[in-house]
Amino acid sequence: MQTTSPVLEAINLTKTYDYHVTALDNLNLSVGRGEIYSLLGGNGAGKTTTMNLFLNFIEPSSGKAIVNGVVTHEEPIKAKQYVAFVSENVQLYGQFTAVQNLDFFTRIGGNTHYTQRDYEQVLLRVGLQKEAHHRKLSGFSKGMRQKCGIAIAILKNTPAILLDEPTSGLDPKAGNEFSRLLAELRDEGKAILMSTHDIFRAKEISDTVGIMNQGKLVMQKSAEELKGENLESLYLHFMAGYMEETA
Ligand SMILES: Nc1ncnc2c1ncn2[C@@H]1O[C@H](COP(=O)(O)OP(=O)(O)OP(=O)(O)O)[C@@H](O)[C@H]1O
Ligand SMILES: [Mg+2]
Repeated sequence: MQTTSPVLEAINLTKTYDYHVTALDNLNLSVGRGEIYSLLGGNGAGKTTTMNLFLNFIEPSSGKAIVNGVVTHEEPIKAKQYVAFVSENVQLYGQFTAVQNLDFFTRIGGNTHYTQRDYEQVLLRVGLQKEAHHRKLSGFSKGMRQKCGIAIAILKNTPAILLDEPTSGLDPKAGNEFSRLLAELRDEGKAILMSTHDIFRAKEISDTVGIMNQGKLVMQKSAEELKGENLESLYLHFMAGYMEETA
């Protein structure tokens, strides 16, 4: 049971776009210290919208997203200090090497104390091979870029980490190593909210799994509740349920 207040909390969080597209419909969820929460859901379910609201890239239509006690749309700059983000398509500088990108983005984030050795160590920790550390990113694969994005998120050293489909570019071995890395970060006390299409990994590493459909959280279960359950069948059940309701 969670005894301290959550690091990430969505309270009746709702986002409606023009033409009445309800991208997110009254979402309530929380992620505490040392917890991994995975959001599953089909394309357009509202996962990225949820991340964007926690980062205040967009304003909620109603409700609130809270990071470390700070309501993101009330104090966006303060809230951003507590959260690191790895987007689905990590945007870094192709003409910079991996180490130069880490140096650039950590300095922009206000961390000026890291050394070249720190950068190399964190790159090894996320599984980027040594020979790539001083190569330009323009020659990197998607998975290699994602590893750099994850390294930058770790260096920001925030209580909360948001990851939007972080394993989408990783090969199976890198995916496995990534699961271990997430477990380490959880053990260090981070609150981790991740969106993913990888049902297998979601079940393997999450403390809580949520399934979203058309902006609604249609299922939420703890690791304990998922024991012995087939998450893929549950997922398909909730997708099928929605299709019948809206047919
Ligand atoms: N800027 C926007 N203007 C209008 N509608 C938008 C905008 N951004 C997202 N939406 C809509 O919000 C809904 C949720 O989109 P979102 O990107 O959150 O889905 P997702 O769960 O991340 O999907 P995916 O798995 O494909 O990444 C979709 O119906 C989408 O069309
Ligand atoms: Mg998305």
